[in-house]
Amino acid sequence: MALSLVSCQGKQKEKKAEIVIPTEWKDTGGEYINSHGGGILTYEGKYYWFGEHRPAKGFATEVGVNCYSSENLRVWNYEGVALSVSDEEGNEIEKGCIMERPKVIYNAKTRKFVMWFHLELKGRGYEAARAAVAVSDTPTGPYRLIHSGRVNPGIYPENMTTEERAARLDTAQYREWWTPEWTEAVQRGLFVHRDLEGGQMSRDMTLYVDDDGKAYHIYSSEENLTLQIAELTDDYQSHSGRYIRIFPAGHNEAPTLFKHEGTYWMICSGCTGWAPNEARMFSAPSIWGPWKQHPTPFAGEGADKTFGAQSTYVLALPDGRFLFMADIWKPESLMYSGYLWLPIRFDENGVPVISKEESIDAPAQ
Ligand code: DGJ
Repeated sequence: MALSLVSCQGKQKEKKAEIVIPTEWKDTGGEYINSHGGGILTYEGKYYWFGEHRPAKGFATEVGVNCYSSENLRVWNYEGVALSVSDEEGNEIEKGCIMERPKVIYNAKTRKFVMWFHLELKGRGYEAARAAVAVSDTPTGPYRLIHSGRVNPGIYPENMTTEERAARLDTAQYREWWTPEWTEAVQRGLFVHRDLEGGQMSRDMTLYVDDDGKAYHIYSSEENLTLQIAELTDDYQSHSGRYIRIFPAGHNEAPTLFKHEGTYWMICSGCTGWAPNEARMFSAPSIWGPWKQHPTPFAGEGADKTFGAQSTYVLALPDGRFLFMADIWKPESLMYSGYLWLPIRFDENGVPVISKEESIDAPAQ
């Protein structure tokens, strides 16, 4: 069922058509949509929503990555499990691992659908911090895991200075976290050095495909303290080796990325587990920066806690507008975590604003 609202665009109140956002979050079979930390692929005029299948109790992955399809963003058909966990003991995606924040992009050169997600190995909590890649010949899958691991082993981020590289900071000298000395060391690349050989950590993540077809993996790295942006190879299945760190020690996660009139915008959250916090927003004239911070884009009551939600994706609609997607986590039963989808408005300075007063009408097909 869809909700009809009247939208307020800036000062003049302008009536808009029916919004596309579901209110009950049920699929066409009447089941609650189980697609958390997800994102949407638009392919041949259809939307494919991929997300974490979460259990009713606990948080380990028992099933895999779910896929739903829609022609209007409102009515969702369940397409089944796009990527299944494995029953094989010791497999990287053995049942009981943790699969989070899956995102799928289409590669026109290879004609493959490429899924990236955050993978934690079974029984190892969140210490593996891997990025995983799976591919399929069709949007709905089945996807096949091709590899998982840390990011860009042996390679320094492009924007780490010669001095920072030479410093070779050692975590043994900074055992106590959150002291000013430790924060400064994190900013100077403490964890980049620690993880250089094995590759950078990768937890919360998203993907972004630019107008020139180049794709990027944006992820919380360095113990969730620093975001990194890594370019993908032309087939979108590996990292090219080119990457940067942004807002070192900023403690950001749940990144989303979109481009509006030549400016790259990133909306993400702070790190408070499943509890909501105030969203953060950054912008840059190029994906490679320089990135600068803005106040939260959320406006109205509850904005200081992102209306109880945490960002997961920003969908670029075919008519040039953007849909912000977020999760309202329910750790007591993650399966029933809620969803918050809101349109992004741009103020008179072109800065994104997200409020509950905005509505969105059906995008042109
Ligand atoms: C917050 C992250 O954004 C989620 O994806 C998930 O990893 C939880 N933390 C786990 O506590």
